[in-house]
Formats: sequence, structure tokens, C-alpha cells
Amino acid sequence: MDRIGHWHEIMEEEAIRGLAGRDFLSLADFEPGEIRALIRLARALKAARRQGEPHRLLEGRALAMIFRKPSTRTRVAFEVGMVELGGYPLYLSGSEIQLSRGESLADTARVLSRMVHGIMIRTFAQEEVEELARHASVPVINGLTDLLHPTQVLADLVTLSEKWGELSGHRLAYVGDGNNMSHSLALGGGLMGMEIVLATPPEYAPDQEVLAKARRLAGAQGGRVEWTDDPRAAVRGAHAIYTDTWVSMGQQTSGEAREAKIARLLPYQVNRELLELAAPGALVMHCLPAHRGEEATGEVLDGPASIIFDQAENRLHAHKAILAALLRGV
Ligand code: CP
Ligand code: NVA
Repeated sequence: MDRIGHWHEIMEEEAIRGLAGRDFLSLADFEPGEIRALIRLARALKAARRQGEPHRLLEGRALAMIFRKPSTRTRVAFEVGMVELGGYPLYLSGSEIQLSRGESLADTARVLSRMVHGIMIRTFAQEEVEELARHASVPVINGLTDLLHPTQVLADLVTLSEKWGELSGHRLAYVGDGNNMSHSLALGGGLMGMEIVLATPPEYAPDQEVLAKARRLAGAQGGRVEWTDDPRAAVRGAHAIYTDTWVSMGQQTSGEAREAKIARLLPYQVNRELLELAAPGALVMHCLPAHRGEEATGEVLDGPASIIFDQAENRLHAHKAILAALLRGV
């Protein structure tokens, strides 16, 4: 990673100027240069905040945040981020707005676009976010779907760039359930020229289409995306091991099905034994919320290799970078 620079300068860079008015639906929609610029902007805004330097880039602008699933980090990061940028966030619980009584996503998008400057949505199908974006005239941000979690991965790339500097050439192993996190990590890490290895049981493998896209993106950047069912092979030589819950929101299956899935995934648990196979100094990552004793042991999640709370903090800075870049001039 080149020198970070001041947020003032970064906001004037072509890569950031070109993001004004755009949506943030999938990392695959961006050029590597745009993601790199967002990472530097996030780090510059983090530095400004630490120095107490005001950075009210979105004075008077409003962000509507629709949540059809629960959230702690995403909600707080967007809410605090918007206020720190001089704007104001509106929390809209999916069950309390007319969407819950059958109002269409298209009409919701049209109405909100008349009153706010950006819309963030956390929901189930990726198609819902795309439908909202098609009918909105303001930027739409994907705050997690069953398929993708791009804002989390931008924050993760910010975190890794702080630890490593340059991202390309590093190997990250994602171990566990082939879910939204595995997809966005493959796309984002691939775009950054990283080597991403996903280890899941075959029956919980990542989406084949997303994997194919991630492979194409990675190939063009000198990176690589692989899948294996062998967690030990995946973590060998890895500079970071990433895991996530084994039962995602929206998959809240019955007790029995949940127990069966957990039993099937136990060999994929990130524990001391697995960590010892990774490269010396390897980092342990998790998007949170965590289930200690399931996808990872408490010993590893709370141990010296863990950077999980840096990841959580960087949601704030990464989201501010997204908001500042997209909502500028809207
Ligand atoms: N990692 C993440 O998205 O956390 P929340 O579900 O708390 O927003
Ligand atoms: N895969 C998890 C991520 C939570 C932030 C879920 O979708 O529930």
C-alpha cells in the first residue's frame, strides 16, 4: 500500500470522484484501484478522527437504513459514521415500515429517494437489494444479504492493510460454512491480488457462480481463489485464518437441523491445533458475532493472533469512506 495521504487529497483523486452517486452492492462492481482508494480514505478518516480533526463531508445529508435482519456493528457503524460526517441516519426496522405490509421495494425506493441522499439495506435475497437500487435515484448500499457482505470485507481489507501494508501475495484461508462472508472475501481478496482458499464441507460449499467470478477477478490481479474440503490444507502457510458463524441469519433452522450442521462443521473449527499449521504470526479473523466453542475456540478468538475487534472498529472507518465517496454531491 502506498502512502495513505490526507482525506482531503484522497477525496479529490479520480478513483474516489468516480464513485459519487454509485451503488455499493458487490465488491465485484469495483475496480481494484477504487477499492484501494476506499481503503486509503478509510485509514485517512480514521487518522483524522483520532486527531480530533473535523471531517464533516456530508453536512445535512440523510441516510435511510432498512434492517430486515438484526445488527449491532453495521447499524452502529453507519449511524455513528453518518453523524461524524455531519449528516443524519434514520433507522428503519423492516417490520415497522410499510414494506412489512406489502409495499413494494420499487415504491419504497422511489419514496425514500425523494427524501434522503442514500439508502442502506440489510435483507435476505441479493435480488432485493438490486431491485431497490434499480428504482432508487440515490446510492444504495448492501448492508448484508444471504449472498454477500461487501461492507464487512472492505473493513477487513482496511484491517489487513494496517497489519501488512500491501495485500497482494498474502494467503487468507476462510474455514467453515460457504456463506455470504466466504463469497465477499473471495471477491474482495481476489480483486486485491490475494490468495484466498475457502475450506468447507462439500454440502456447504460456496456458490459456484460467485466462486467463478472471484477466480476471474483474482486471475486478472495475479491472485488466486481456491476451494477445498480440507481445512488443514487450506490453512497451511496462510497469513490469516477467517471464520464465521455456522448458522447465518435467515437460516435459523430447527434445533435438530442446527445441531446436525454444527456436528458436520466441527472438523472446521478454528482452534489452536489448526492455527499452528498456518504461517508464523498468522492472524485470526471473524466478522462477529462469534460463537465460542463452535466455529472457533475462545482461546483462539481471545488470543494474541486475534484481530477481531480491530475488524469491528474498522467497520466505522470503512463505512465512512463508502458514505463520503458515494453520497458526495448527491
Ligand atoms: N459483522 C456484522 O455485520 O455484524 P452485525 O450483524 O452486528 O452488523
Ligand atoms: N454469515 C453471517 C454474518 C453476520 C455478520 C450471517 O449472515 O448471519
